[in-house]
Amino acid sequence: MSKALDGVRILDFTHVQSGPTCTQLLAWFGADCIKVERPGTGDVTRSQLRDVPGADSLYFTMLNHNKRSITLDAKNPQGKEVLEGLVKACDVLVENFGPGVLDRMGFTWERLQELNPRLIYASVKGFGPGPYEDCKVYENVAQCTGGAASTTGFLDGPPLVTGAQIGDSGTGLHLALGIVTALFQRTTTGKGQRVLASMQDGVLNLCRVKLRDQQRLKAGPLQEYSQYGQGIAFGEATPRAGNDSGGGQPGWIIKCKGYETDPNAYIYFITQAPVWDKICKVIGKEEWITDPDFAKPDARLPRLKLIFDTIEQWTMTKTKFEAMDILNEFDIPCGPILSMKEIAEEPSLRATGTVVEVDHPKRGKYLSVGNPIKLSDSPTDVTRSPLLGEHTEEILRDVLRYDDAKVAAIKASGATGGAKPAAAE
Ligand code: COA
Repeated sequence: MSKALDGVRILDFTHVQSGPTCTQLLAWFGADCIKVERPGTGDVTRSQLRDVPGADSLYFTMLNHNKRSITLDAKNPQGKEVLEGLVKACDVLVENFGPGVLDRMGFTWERLQELNPRLIYASVKGFGPGPYEDCKVYENVAQCTGGAASTTGFLDGPPLVTGAQIGDSGTGLHLALGIVTALFQRTTTGKGQRVLASMQDGVLNLCRVKLRDQQRLKAGPLQEYSQYGQGIAFGEATPRAGNDSGGGQPGWIIKCKGYETDPNAYIYFITQAPVWDKICKVIGKEEWITDPDFAKPDARLPRLKLIFDTIEQWTMTKTKFEAMDILNEFDIPCGPILSMKEIAEEPSLRATGTVVEVDHPKRGKYLSVGNPIKLSDSPTDVTRSPLLGEHTEEILRDVLRYDDAKVAAIKASGATGGAKPAAAE
């Protein structure tokens, strides 16, 4: 079966996490993704957080499936010549270097357009144009500057970062959408364009509801935040909301049976208004169905703590999975807190390809997250990440059409690193 992005060639100049998540998605949709890496070391994540001596780390392998790797010294004249050839042969250049790095390599937007007017030049940067545009940025910096950290955590604690990599992987997703949109526009204009996704913008986009709340504060306290019912005054900025739900249906994380020893024996429980009667029946508080203090959503807002404490008395008698089964029968929205161990072992996620087992010649079998976006006519086959420089010669010959003499000259120049490309065992 064909793939959605068959025929699209990506010059993947990305490293670490944000850029690689973007190009991995494009590769899963069928693009030919050529990852350019520095000879000798490659993407810095190959050797970061290593768990198997001598093998590429999970950090690298889980972000670079379905790609080809070429080693090139971009500062060597022959390396630059090869890069220019690749710019001409590719549809998209994706990079997430520090600000100004590509310009310093000699690849300004003007130069790239000269080389290939149809090229889409896509970048992740920490910040968009403005006072911080020259700053390097990592995940947690983006979470802090994009509004996520100030609104995450408990009211009486410090700002918190979240385990979801909304700055890196989140921005990679934004960039991927920008790229396919630019490819679509190119079908009518015939021209490439620049695509920029800044990590601060990406995080803020995901924190949209918190900017909503910032503006609602002018109209008075935010009644769906549990601090309202506890009589705690609001300050000038959107507060940290603990486990309050971000919308109009109050929710909270409550204990389940076994919480004393299992840190994840909890469930997220939503007191959705249309099923309030059923909630009252399940937890044995039928009188709340008609009690004016509880019957209507507005009446419940100042009493959320009491409500969740009462529901918790019931959930503590059930495991999180028992509670989920019972609540689902009544259409009550809820979700068990799943540990990574439980997710790794969950058969339904394996069945859909969301969690996949991949074999790697150096490290053996490992689990990865597959493509979370399913296209009915473009199924994803997850293949292992490339070894460093594994496809150097193949790319010189197949993409750039270099003959034996030219390949030998490029290699002799040291542009590809001198060492023989690592072979897949
Ligand atoms: N050949 C020769 N040189 C190469 C090369 C190659 N194939 N690949 C990279 N380099 C060089 C670059 O030219 C640059 O050199 P220069 O500074 O002399 O111009 C150097 O490697 C370092 O690049 P840089 O991107 O600044 O790396 P860093 O390790 O110092 O910073 C980040 C890492 C992630 C902080 C930075 O890249 C960044 O801010 N990126 C944008 C935001 C982002 O994506 N952050 C999240 C990452 S998950």
